[in-house]
Amino acid sequence: MNFENNLEFAKSLDAKDELKKFKNEFFNPAENLIYLDGNSLGKLPLRTKELLKKVIDEEWGSRLIRSWNENWLPRQKSVRERIAKIIGADLSEVNVCDSVSINLFKLSSAVLQLNSDCKEIITDSLNFPSDIYILESVINNFGNKHELRIIESKDEIQISSEEIINSCSKKTALVVLSHVVFKSAYKYDIPLITKELKKKGAYVIWDLSHSVGSVPIKLDEWNCDFAVGCTYKYLNGGPGSPAFLYVNKNLIKDLQNPIWGWFGADNPFNFDLSFTESSSIEKFNVGTQPIISLSALESSLQITIDAGMENIREKNILMTEYLIFLIKENLSEYHIEIGTPLNSKERGSHITLKHKEGYRICKALIESKGLKIIPDFRKPDNIRFGLNSLYNSFEEIFIAVKRIKEILDMNEFENFDLEFDAVT
Ligand SMILES: Cc1ncc(COP(=O)(O)O)c(C=O)c1O
Repeated sequence: MNFENNLEFAKSLDAKDELKKFKNEFFNPAENLIYLDGNSLGKLPLRTKELLKKVIDEEWGSRLIRSWNENWLPRQKSVRERIAKIIGADLSEVNVCDSVSINLFKLSSAVLQLNSDCKEIITDSLNFPSDIYILESVINNFGNKHELRIIESKDEIQISSEEIINSCSKKTALVVLSHVVFKSAYKYDIPLITKELKKKGAYVIWDLSHSVGSVPIKLDEWNCDFAVGCTYKYLNGGPGSPAFLYVNKNLIKDLQNPIWGWFGADNPFNFDLSFTESSSIEKFNVGTQPIISLSALESSLQITIDAGMENIREKNILMTEYLIFLIKENLSEYHIEIGTPLNSKERGSHITLKHKEGYRICKALIESKGLKIIPDFRKPDNIRFGLNSLYNSFEEIFIAVKRIKEILDMNEFENFDLEFDAVT
């Protein structure tokens, strides 16, 4: 598309946007706030506000323990069904529980047990650090017999699929990669890597945290083995909402959860004194799930399903292309670099800008009087602008770039200190 560098053009894109009605599905805290951090924590859906009121007042307040059978167990199933739909899987292959880190621990331990002759684990330097810490802890738990190889990115933006494929050998037990990487938004080619690594006998666990809800995912069609992902970013599940895990139906019976808790048992309410593992995907449960957070997911996920993943992707490709166009048109003289692949097929739904004053620019965007724009910051110099097709508009993107230019023109970032907040 031929973009134009003016507000009228941004408005004309909004007028043609078939998803614009979904903006009204979300709580809008202030007129002068533009939220561009849905890649970290999605906005609050109004449906969720309503549902949580019911969960607190009626289900917990009035019905108390009876709600387990009446609402909470059925809701756990309906949340699993919705995730399954969004990631292209069968209900029998999806569990919703715990955090991404814990689910990765459970799955990677199970894979190392399954593939016990191979002693190499591969990940990359673009991966989310918690994934790497988890792999280190799994190796430690297995008696330090495995080698962790971290494939380095030369430009901190991407690594080719070929490099990952060529790095693996018959020694490789497990590969753990983020589908969309957290700093640069680079997107791996899951079908290609999955197909090639299967030939080498290595299992792959895909971390879908930054792709789920922003990129169509077809785990069954792509013949994937394992995946984990979070629900609080593009799926708008709320802070700390439960994560999910996926195991291909052909592998469930071969895997063992390393943490044996009562909700992973064959029949928790038999209260047997010795553990018998469930034969279904529910073997990956451990303890009682956070029902309030899990309930919030039911309504949030439905918005994504209603909007449709193909429509969501079509819009976020257009939004990221428009943002890149505006950056090139307006910010090229300010020593700013784009830290995201320029080819839309190779990226997710955030754009990263690199500038040596990135943190203070980010603070100026968030904290200045008047208009407030919320992106986030990842060390050393990355400002991430997450674009959510459900609630962001082209006008917001235009205004955000105009504001960055103003901050750089006036050196406004100099009014802010370099002290880092606990969460950036
Ligand atoms: C790609 C990725 N993986 C894993 C995690 C960790 O998730 P959790 O805190 O649910 O363990 C995050 C958190 O932001 C993430 O972005």
